[in-house]
Amino acid sequence: MAGPELTRRALFGAAAGAGALALLAGGSRVAGAGDGDAAGADGAAHGHGVLHAGTRGSVDHARNGFDPHAVLTDFDGGATRRLPGGRVLREWTVVAEEKEIEIAPGVRFPAWTYNGRVPGPTLRASAGDLLRIRFVNATPHPHTMHFHGLHRAVADGAPGTGPGGLVAPGREHVYEFAAEPFGLHLYHCHTFPLAAHIAKGLYGAFIVDPPGGRPEARELVMVQNGFDTNFDSANEVYAVNTVAFAYLDRPIALPRDDLVRIYLVNVLEYDLLNSFHLHGNFFHYFPTGTSLEPSELTDTVAQVQGQRGILELRFPHPGRYMFHAHQSEFAELGWTGLFEVS
Ligand code: CU
Ligand code: CU
Repeated sequence: MAGPELTRRALFGAAAGAGALALLAGGSRVAGAGDGDAAGADGAAHGHGVLHAGTRGSVDHARNGFDPHAVLTDFDGGATRRLPGGRVLREWTVVAEEKEIEIAPGVRFPAWTYNGRVPGPTLRASAGDLLRIRFVNATPHPHTMHFHGLHRAVADGAPGTGPGGLVAPGREHVYEFAAEPFGLHLYHCHTFPLAAHIAKGLYGAFIVDPPGGRPEARELVMVQNGFDTNFDSANEVYAVNTVAFAYLDRPIALPRDDLVRIYLVNVLEYDLLNSFHLHGNFFHYFPTGTSLEPSELTDTVAQVQGQRGILELRFPHPGRYMFHAHQSEFAELGWTGLFEVS
């Protein structure tokens, strides 16, 4: 029965309705741990969906080494010092490592990580800062760090751009460039086969704050991603910040009326489109964060891979507000969460 024809769309039947069931049951989590054989190709071969209602469990965030709730507010400004003339220099060391991570209860994925986490650290700078990223490749495969932004070709981290375009196993490279333009960007490995290198987890958010910063707000980083657990070039699990249903399991607590700013990035591989939909509210949307004027007041935004934008909103009413991909299939396979407004 197992075979290449057994894709996540075939598996989908097992997961369909799980999200709705959990909500009807009171809003607790829905990502079942499977039967112990649900992880990876073996689970697929047995015909189980990797996520299905019924059994319950929880992801061991300590073992993963990162917690999706901490990822929301974990901004890494690097080590800073002033250069002669006053310009700020920011320095980071980012290490590519192979690591098995748990992406849903009992579902393990052999990830490639930046600094041991997926998504990698959210690197943050102010417009005009000089950035120096020492990239160490501690894996058996070549990798790079390719940043979106305005920089010289030699800092691009893509094949054919010099030594940073392919960093061999055990080697390192320093990428240096200015933080510009201000906005919400991303970085990812640009080694071919590109889809595989991204799908394995080598990506992260990159924020460049405008001169003077943005208004004070509760800030959250959400990197939309997915995981191909049976290596058929289609995703079985969808998420924001890696762990399926992490924010359905434990809603994101927000105070009523406070300004909330969400840095939303889509790095999802294998699917053409991703989206963010919010219940009971609307948000101002700043595409790529490169303007201080929003383009739209909406409750749904679509992003292709590499697209990103900043959402700003306030919740005037207390209660639980769902957010999820408006591809219902993704929502039911992990990409659903809740804001708990008090
Ligand atoms: Cu790579
Ligand atoms: Cu890119």
